[in-house]
Amino acid sequence: MTSTHLNQRTEQTDVVVIGGGIIGLAVAYALAQRGRAVTVVEAARIGERAAAGVAAGMLAPSSEADLSDPRLTTLALASHAAYPAWVADLEQASGVEVGYDATGTLLVALHRDHLALIEHLHAFQVERGLAAERLTGAQARDEEPYLAPGIAGALRMPDAQVDPRRLLRALPLALERAGGRIVEDTRVTAVTRDGDVYEVTTEHDGMASTLRATQVVLAAGAWSRQIALVGLEAATLPMRPVKGQILRLRGERLLRHVIRTPDVYLVPRADGEIVVGASMEEQGFDARPTAGAVHDLLREARRAVPGIAELELAECGVGFRPALRDHLPAIGNIDGAGLFVASGHFRDGVVLAPITARLLADLVCDGRLDALLEPFAPGRFAPASIEVTR
Ligand code: GLY
Repeated sequence: MTSTHLNQRTEQTDVVVIGGGIIGLAVAYALAQRGRAVTVVEAARIGERAAAGVAAGMLAPSSEADLSDPRLTTLALASHAAYPAWVADLEQASGVEVGYDATGTLLVALHRDHLALIEHLHAFQVERGLAAERLTGAQARDEEPYLAPGIAGALRMPDAQVDPRRLLRALPLALERAGGRIVEDTRVTAVTRDGDVYEVTTEHDGMASTLRATQVVLAAGAWSRQIALVGLEAATLPMRPVKGQILRLRGERLLRHVIRTPDVYLVPRADGEIVVGASMEEQGFDARPTAGAVHDLLREARRAVPGIAELELAECGVGFRPALRDHLPAIGNIDGAGLFVASGHFRDGVVLAPITARLLADLVCDGRLDALLEPFAPGRFAPASIEVTR
């Protein structure tokens, strides 16, 4: 990868994408494929602090459908459907295989409470026409012999998975081969406007530079609020980080399907790694792994698949999901001109990457707003007055 630092005080490009996480890179790649000169500015090294760098990579629009806003499920289903073609193009363009695997997901019930939840989800899926198949405990164990003996029942869903770390390797290569540029270890401190041109002020190693562009995409995830939009009438985003702790276990391959219970998920990779996740914590940007979260994840994972106790505990990772007040993403224009946002993807950044990239590129390049994006308008957080009755 030929990532560079800015080497002149002022440089010019068509579009600056602020943030080199999965959303920023996917959007930048879609723009580069449409012939735009794109520069991605990333505050760290690519993958170093991206939420996707610790994500498990479940592409799971069905597994949480009853808990999600139906408009988000609709968007996630569209993105899930786009995944195979998106991955095929990316693998071809980058030469990196990204671990897309459509074996499917088993949501397993370990006891009667879980069974009631699963039955509720299944009824909801049937009502909404989502594919899912009820299995008995014995049928689930036929599929996955390492599941605990007492499984009360399961749901099989066509939810797939991908390896997000591989995506974070493939996307920069594909982007650069399509003519895009990545600038790492460079913080964006401010965005201002000079007539029709945006000025993106950056800082690297104490040196300030300016990137001038006709359009800017803000895709800085949980850090999106830290970029000062100076003198711009732009929608404000009530973004906060939601900490997630996740574990990587390694050893003999125990599973083929993604295994979930209502309390934990286990995502198996072809090389024997199992990703176990994830905590949901309101701890700001506290990046410490904690004994309590690791204990809870391992306890729940071991209840579902006792054999994991023999695997190596290879990594405890911490990531920060970008969460808006309603836990839905913000994808669209934020100033009525050339400033756009694609952020707040919360638990769904990996699954939503292809559709976010395609639809935002439609908007940036052609001014075309797809109806799928209407619920995710960034302006929806404009302060409304609250009447207090005493
Ligand atoms: N996408 C699952 C999580 O955020 O834990």
